[in-house]
Amino acid sequence: MERLVEIEKFEDEEVVENTLRPDAWNDYIGQEQIKKNLGVFIEASKKRDEALDHTLFYGPPGLGKTTLALIIANEMGTNIKVTAAPMIEKSGDLAAILTNLEEGDILFIDEIHRLSPAVEEILYPSMEDFRLDIIIGSGPAAQSVKIDLPRFTLIGATTRAGMLSNPLRDRFGMSFRMQFYSHDELAQIILKASSKLNKEIDSNASKEIAKRSRGTPRIALRLLKRIRDFADVVDEDTILLSRTNYALEELGINSYGFDEMDIRFLEFLIQAKGKAVGLSTIAAALSEDEGTVEDVIEPYLLANGFLERTARGRLASRKTYEFLRLTPPTEQKGLF
Ligand SMILES: Nc1ncnc2c1ncn2[C@@H]1O[C@H](COP(=O)(O)OP(=O)(O)OP(=O)(O)O)[C@@H](O)[C@H]1O
Ligand SMILES: [Mg+2]
Repeated sequence: MERLVEIEKFEDEEVVENTLRPDAWNDYIGQEQIKKNLGVFIEASKKRDEALDHTLFYGPPGLGKTTLALIIANEMGTNIKVTAAPMIEKSGDLAAILTNLEEGDILFIDEIHRLSPAVEEILYPSMEDFRLDIIIGSGPAAQSVKIDLPRFTLIGATTRAGMLSNPLRDRFGMSFRMQFYSHDELAQIILKASSKLNKEIDSNASKEIAKRSRGTPRIALRLLKRIRDFADVVDEDTILLSRTNYALEELGINSYGFDEMDIRFLEFLIQAKGKAVGLSTIAAALSEDEGTVEDVIEPYLLANGFLERTARGRLASRKTYEFLRLTPPTEQKGLF
């Protein structure tokens, strides 16, 4: 079965996500601190009639980085060119994008940690001095060419902040870490989305979906769409709590919205019987790279107390044992 609570986007999900994506500042729920700061900077740069400072958003998948970039463009009233680092293979690709920008435009680069060093080299002077430094030709005939660029804003997004090179990180005037959403915020997002889908939902039902969405709007919206199917099949005009519980049960969504990887992670920790496990061991056991474990899987577990990070490694918490209905080993009890 498809892993509904998988946090990465499914391939066919793009279109639906785009229709449910809020496009106005006020429809973007949560991330209040980020919005507060950004709001000030946007207003100030509009007043001065200047481009916004280069901005970096980082944090786990599905928390609204791309959405926020689009909303900023909307607020600034500028064009936004959307691309992703893997699509910029050669320095010439980036040069072509940059020279096509207009004054004040936003360039959004997703997965920005994946830029190649050669492309990054071109990006630095572009970000700093709005100047393109390129070498044309090779050998003794090579020529260095400098082209002035319009003042643009680079918005970068990454799920893997740790993989960003220091020089690149330093060139962002602002950087924001995305937070997991509260149940209330997710419930609001679900209500707004269901009205866009023309389907009524009971507030208890939206709260229940919120609880099982791993703090992540992408998962909340995905669950909503599936539960709507359950309601539509039996011709229920409103999504009720009872149908929601039934559907969630049928879909195999547990009370925290954990996906298979979360569960494997927690079970692996528990197998260590109270001994701290190192990141590399965990990564090997899950066949994932360390960065993904640290930046994508762990944050939600940590934020919700399912995981303790010590100098020696990771430990399951009391909550983990309770969740998996197991008793902690005696030598670990003192830790809780
Ligand atoms: N604050 C929010 N309010 C309402 N909807 C949101 C919010 N944040 C995200 N969403 C919805 O969740 C979905 C995923 O958001 P988005 O694509 O922006 O996440 P992301 O952080 O860019 O993920 P990834 O790291 O995988 O690129 C979108 O469909 C968007 O509509
Ligand atoms: Mg994105």
